This record gives sequence, C-alpha cells and structure tokens, in this order.
Amino acid sequence: MSIQIERSLFLFYIIFVFYAWAQCSQHTDCTSCTQDKGTLGLTPCCWNSNSSTCQTSLLGLCASGSTGVTYNCPTNPPSDFTYTDNFGRNYTLPFIASAYGDFNQAQVCLNNTVPDAQLIGVYNDSRNCSSVLALLPSQNTIVVAFRGAQGSTQFVITALNLILQGPLVSFPPGGKVFSYFSSCFLGIWNAGLGANLKSLKQANSNYGLWVFGHSLGGALASLTSTYAVHQKIFNSSDVKLITTGQPRTGDLDYAIAHDSSIPHSYRLINVADLVTKMPEKVNLDATNAFHHHFEIWYNQNMLIGANFTLCNQAEASNCSSSTSLVQSLSYDYHNTYFNTSIDTWFGTGCI
Ligand SMILES: *[C@@H]1O[C@H](CO)[C@@H](O)[C@H](O)[C@H]1NC(C)=O
Ligand SMILES: *[C@@H]1O[C@H](CO)[C@@H](O)[C@H](O)[C@H]1NC(C)=O
Ligand SMILES: *[C@@H]1O[C@H](CO)[C@@H](O)[C@H](O)[C@H]1NC(C)=O
Ligand SMILES: *[C@@H]1O[C@H](CO)[C@@H](O)[C@H](O)[C@H]1NC(C)=O
Ligand SMILES: *[C@@H]1O[C@H](CO)[C@@H](O)[C@H](O)[C@H]1NC(C)=O
Ligand SMILES: *[C@@H]1O[C@H](CO)[C@@H](O)[C@H](O)[C@H]1NC(C)=O
Ligand SMILES: *[C@@H]1O[C@H](CO)[C@@H](O)[C@H](O)[C@H]1NC(C)=O
Ligand SMILES: *[C@@H]1O[C@H](CO)[C@@H](O)[C@H](O)[C@H]1NC(C)=O
Ligand SMILES: *[C@@H]1O[C@H](CO)[C@@H](O)[C@H](O)[C@H]1NC(C)=O
Repeated sequence: MSIQIERSLFLFYIIFVFYAWAQCSQHTDCTSCTQDKGTLGLTPCCWNSNSSTCQTSLLGLCASGSTGVTYNCPTNPPSDFTYTDNFGRNYTLPFIASAYGDFNQAQVCLNNTVPDAQLIGVYNDSRNCSSVLALLPSQNTIVVAFRGAQGSTQFVITALNLILQGPLVSFPPGGKVFSYFSSCFLGIWNAGLGANLKSLKQANSNYGLWVFGHSLGGALASLTSTYAVHQKIFNSSDVKLITTGQPRTGDLDYAIAHDSSIPHSYRLINVADLVTKMPEKVNLDATNAFHHHFEIWYNQNMLIGANFTLCNQAEASNCSSSTSLVQSLSYDYHNTYFNTSIDTWFGTGCI
C-alpha cells in the first residue's frame, strides 16, 4: 500500500518536473521567461543569458548565472551617451576628490584639474556627509559631487556595515532606500543644495546636470539625481550620473525608479571593490537590495588606458560579482580609483 503511494507521488513529481521544464523551455526571450512564475507561482522560470535559454528553477531558486527578475534582463544603455574612460578621468575623479575638502581646498583642487569650473558652494550635514556644487560653462552643465566616508577602507566597511543594518525607508520617486543614505541626502539637500541647484538651473535654463559621488557619496549621488528629476528641476535626458565604489543603495523598486528617471547612469567598479558588494547578497536575485544600471567594470586596474567592460545586467554574475571575497580583501581597491587616492588627493591640491 505505502509503496503504491510512494510510486504515485514519484510519478506525480516526474510529471510536475517535466511540465515545469516544458513550460519554461517554450520561452525564447528574457522578459516572457522571467514573467512566467508557473502554476500557482510554484515553478518560476529563469533566464540564462549565456546560453539564451529559459530554464526551470530548482525549488523556486534560479541556478547561479541565471535570473528570475525581469528588471535584471540584459539591456543596453541609450546610445546618446556612453561612458568613456576620459570622461571619468577628466571630470568624475576631480569633482569627487574636490568634495573631500572645505570650500578653499575644493577651489584649489578644481583650479588645478578643471580650470573652467566655478565652485558655487559646499553643503554638509550633521553626519559629516558633504557635497560640492559647481558650474561648468564649457559643458553647459551644473555639477554636484559627493564625498564618501573618510578614512581607511576598513573604517568605511565598518561604518557601511552598521548603515546597511538599518531599515529601508520609502523614497518619494519610488521604492525604498537605506535610511542612513536617505537621512544624509535630505540633510544636504535641505542645507541649501536643493534650493541653490534650483536657482542655478533657473539662471542657466539650457544647462544639464552631472552628479558624481564616491562610496557612501555614490549612494547620495544616485538619490540626488533621481530626486532632481522627480522634482522636475531637470528633465531625464539632461542628467548624467557617474559613481565610483557605490554600495547597493535601495531595493529593486528603487533601482527601477532610478532607471526610469536617469537613463544615463554608470557605476564604476575597480576590480573587486568590496564596498560595491555591500550589503552582501548570496543570491543576486534577492530584491531587498538591488544595484541599478549600468555597471562599468574595470577588471584589472584603473591605470591610463585600462580596459573596462560595460555590463548589461544590473546584477550581473559575470562582472565584478564574479570576483571572490578573498580578492576583495586582498587590496585596497576601494580608495584608489583611477590610480589616485580618492579621499586624500585634495590634500595636495589634486596634483
Ligand atoms: C557576461 O555574459 C553575457 C551574456 O552571456 C555576455 O554578453 C558578456 O560579454 C559577459 N561579460 C563578461 C564580462 O564576461
Ligand atoms: C557560457 O557558454 C560557453 C559556451 O557556450 C561556455 O563555455 C561557458 O562556460 C559558459 N559560461 C558560463 C558562466 O556559464
Ligand atoms: C580628457 O582629457 C584629455 C587630455 O587632456 C583630452 O585629450 C580628452 O579630449 C578629454 N576628454 C573628454 C571627454 O573631455
Ligand atoms: C581659482 O581660480 C580663480 C579664477 O582663475 C581665481 O580667482 C581664484 O583665486 C583661484 N582660487 C584658488 C584658491 O586658487
Ligand atoms: C559643515 O562643515 C563646517 C566646516 O567643516 C562645520 O563648521 C559645520 O558645523 C558643518 N555643518 C554641520 C551641519 O555639521
Ligand atoms: C568631518 O570631515 C572633515 C573634513 O574632511 C574631517 O576633517 C573630520 O575629521 C570629519 N569629522 C568627523 C567627526 O568624522
Ligand atoms: C523639459 O522638457 C520640456 C519639453 O522639451 C520643456 O518644455 C521643459 O522646459 C523641460 N524642463 C526642464 C526643467 O528642463
Ligand atoms: C586592453 O584589451 C586589449 C584587447 O584585448 C589588449 O590588447 C590591451 O593590451 C588591453 N590593455 C590593457 C592596458 O590591459
Ligand atoms: C598607481 O600605479 C602605480 C603603478 O602601478 C603604482 O606604483 C602606484 O602605487 C599607484 N598609485 C596609487 C595611488 O594606487
């Protein structure tokens, strides 16, 4: 009797697996594949972009290298602005470095690196988060740049670990973000950045906006760019976001909201930078913390002429996430973007 029950259960299981396989394998594109959650949502399908096939999940989990999240389907950035190493080196690096100084130090740094830049203000909050606001007339652009937490990577990691234990809070443009990032962003925005950004745009109506930031400042840059569009201070197409060493900033819904506001968005990652892996995810499909597009992975170093890869998935398993934790801990990738000590360079006037 019990053998009979076992036998029919086994048969049922085989039919179920076969059914799930047949159900998934009919899909030939990532979107329809990842939207298929199966009967009663029990057998979601997973897209493997390496083989371009739709596969059955195992107990609801996708095999490593495949994804069940539609947002994580491969996509390319808009062709009207592609990241170049020159852009990062000429603009992103010096503006981020300048944000580590006070007004005078920022001014000296910019005079030595981007002579055309006019520093408008430095805005900080009680948590020592800080940003610079500048005009760049040669590029018809307003620039905002955020510094990261100061000190050794170990300190940054410890601080971020505490920060990322915190709750996620709703962010007006959409989704949820880590509460420390939200507080820092609001502190700086309300310390004058928001009002001055608005009046600068009114006085220079044909200007676009570039937002840069490193580490914690990368998360703040991401929030600021999204918020500026949400507040209708700028149109989406006029904003560019470029960050270095940015941790995961919010949940999947925030990533989606960010992308719809900021299509020209690039996160630079130096080889195996540990901070960009935080908060840590064992399963890249987990939606509580989700990177947004587009990862630029410098996979060897960031010397002049270094190669980099544009990754077409927000959480790609074969870009920086493919590096090991051991490699991440083996070298201070986090503080040396573009072969420059990003948090101390201002001390020598950025030369
Ligand atoms: C990652 O995989 C995708 C899909 O197979 C491929 O197009 C891309 O070139 C790979 N990227 C790297 C850095 O290997
Ligand atoms: C991707 O596919 C190629 C050839 O089809 C295979 O050699 C390689 O191991 C695959 N990579 C991954 C990460 O599955
Ligand atoms: C960056 O600077 C280099 C050297 O000064 C220059 O040749 C290049 O045109 C600049 N690139 C951009 C995108 O501004
Ligand atoms: C920076 O350059 C401006 C314009 O050339 C000049 O007026 C200012 O004194 C310089 N500031 C510093 C701190 O070097
Ligand atoms: C901002 O920085 C200045 C100078 O470093 C400091 O005096 C001021 O207290 C800071 N503001 C806040 C709100 O902490
Ligand atoms: C705040 O930032 C300033 C300027 O970089 C730094 O000198 C100071 O040590 C920081 N203060 C704290 C409490 O971290
Ligand atoms: C956004 O674009 C529309 C249509 O081109 C234009 O009317 C409007 O002034 C723009 N808004 C801003 C803030 O640039
Ligand atoms: C970049 O990649 C090209 C092609 O693979 C290679 O020839 C070149 O040596 C690489 N450059 C550096 C600086 O690694
Ligand atoms: C820049 O690269 C050179 C050559 O690899 C290296 O000796 C130097 O330490 C690097 N500087 C920084 C700040 O990483």
